[in-house]
Amino acid sequence: MSNASVPTLHPTEKNRMKLEELKAAESKLLLGTYDRYPLLFERGEDVYLIDANGVRYLDLLSGIGVNALGYAHPAIEKAIAEQSRRLIHTSNLYYHEGQAALALRLTEATGMDRAFFCNSGTEANEAALKLARAWARLQREQGKPLGTKFLALENSFHGRTMGSVAATWKDKYREPFDPVMPGVEFVRFDDVADLRAKFSTEVCAILVEVIQGEGGIRPVSKEFFQAARDLTRSTGALLIADEIQSGMGRTGKFCAYQHYGITGAPGEPVSTGWIQPDVTTLAKPLAAGIPLGALLCTEEASQAIHAGMHGTTFGGGPLACAVALAVLDTMDREHLLEHVTGIGTYFRNRLDDLAAQHSAITQVRGFGLMLALELDSADLAKTVLGEMMQRRILINRTSDTVLRFLPPYILQKAHVDTSIAALNEVLAEQTAQAAATPFPGGKKIGN
Ligand SMILES: Cc1ncc(COP(=O)(O)O)c(C=O)c1O
Repeated sequence: MSNASVPTLHPTEKNRMKLEELKAAESKLLLGTYDRYPLLFERGEDVYLIDANGVRYLDLLSGIGVNALGYAHPAIEKAIAEQSRRLIHTSNLYYHEGQAALALRLTEATGMDRAFFCNSGTEANEAALKLARAWARLQREQGKPLGTKFLALENSFHGRTMGSVAATWKDKYREPFDPVMPGVEFVRFDDVADLRAKFSTEVCAILVEVIQGEGGIRPVSKEFFQAARDLTRSTGALLIADEIQSGMGRTGKFCAYQHYGITGAPGEPVSTGWIQPDVTTLAKPLAAGIPLGALLCTEEASQAIHAGMHGTTFGGGPLACAVALAVLDTMDREHLLEHVTGIGTYFRNRLDDLAAQHSAITQVRGFGLMLALELDSADLAKTVLGEMMQRRILINRTSDTVLRFLPPYILQKAHVDTSIAALNEVLAEQTAQAAATPFPGGKKIGN
């Protein structure tokens, strides 16, 4: 058969076929853990993901909060290239230059004293849970009463390993694997009275996402966070802030807990400090997509851990540490905390404007570039996400009715404007369609 007789496929068709082939192959070869969208990306650039046909998608999710510097950032390319030529892995049996340098930067940024490096968010939380148990044991050995129980919050998400998932609220993540780690009790979100009622010397740690991410971008109140701090101080239990989604500058501060200023006694001015937890965990954007997690803690808490008690083969390897240092340098050089605050405020204001125009939006939440629109129906949220994808803008839906935005820190006003215009158009279309559909047979949107 001559080449001339082979039909030439349009690139879009080629891409679709490749996608179909991949879907078929994955459905046979992989565990069915993921329900993927029908998108196949080949590369990324700046704030865009690009498919095989060169079609660009504005990415307002950045790999679920990971690609904070966007795609193909030259500083990251350089760090990966240089470090991979020198040393990628040594194990934790030997020294390399990266861990202490990175620990210094992270402890300075978070107000902590010591670091432990691992490979993911759930591992960082797992380390935090183990540290809390070891800490409580040490207290008991010294004659102080401190139990083994954890308090976590309703709607929390802390990861998928047996410890972290035990502290994760939704049954669907825990129940198939029962029995998960015992000893976790859930406190109603932001309910100080419930927290007080459930707290006792039996509790070795309270685990809090300062802004719940998967739970729908819900910041805890200062009152609640302060109560958690006061209660843990009163018994010597640890306060653990999970900043895996909210940390590393996502909200305009290095950690979200740094928004929670300490109020002096009544009548005294608000101090410039913040409510400092004993332990915090970071991951997602820490090494710009190279897997890396970190637990950071106070000197005191760190005393509970000795050589051999905990560890990892890969965690804190030379490559991941070099890239994380490049991320921190870039954040400083490009003044990204200030930029996140500025562009985040602009984005938030535009979302508030949108909410004023569309009654289907029930709430706007978050700060910095950790933002959400809550809609009045899960179906509408699903439709809006799909319609935005058609318009080549990637967003995410969490907790059924919440549209979540976790864009790269390098987002610009023009990207916000494009996204808001698209959201406005989609919501207006959906409202018009709902109005044209005879009610009650159709679905009513907004008022
Ligand atoms: C707040 C929080 N903690 C923990 C995790 C788990 O991180 P990983 O998926 O890297 O294990 C996530 C992931 O979404 C998260 O948002």
